[in-house]
Amino acid sequence: MTTRLLFVCLGNICRSPSAENIMNYLLEQRRLQSQITCDSAGTSSYHIGSPPDGRMRAAAQKRGIRLIGSARQFTAADFDQFDLVLAMDNSNYRNILALDPAGKYAHKVKRMCDYCQEYPDREVPDPYYGGADGFDYVIDLLMDACSGLLQELEV
Ligand code: 4NP
Repeated sequence: MTTRLLFVCLGNICRSPSAENIMNYLLEQRRLQSQITCDSAGTSSYHIGSPPDGRMRAAAQKRGIRLIGSARQFTAADFDQFDLVLAMDNSNYRNILALDPAGKYAHKVKRMCDYCQEYPDREVPDPYYGGADGFDYVIDLLMDACSGLLQELEV
């Protein structure tokens, strides 16, 4: 059975498309693309239709990862379409759960940093208003969290 992952941040142009493409990169390396599929979305409508941020793409490219995608907004319909919904920060986590007032899908919603193995961070920091270092940091942090998540999925 295929496990369907949805990575969620605020704008869906920096952190969540990075997580999606990093996970796809790891899945390709391990020949696991048929077992796990990835998508990403934003809790906001700010950047619907936009490609990943150029600064984020540059940081990913330094690690050999190409970021592709087009921003879309997270909706309640996603709860049925995915097995795991991975929030980049606590605000994303709250905004996702707010679309499930009965708590029916709460068991599917996790924080991305729960899977970190090396980094102590509890949230993936929003790099949007900062410098280039912040984008590099997000890539390295997400590499750690994605590989931890893959181990947890035990495929
Ligand atoms: P993301 O980063 O949530 O990682 O995609 C952001 C992108 C855009 C904005 C904030 C964060 N914004 O305020 O437009």
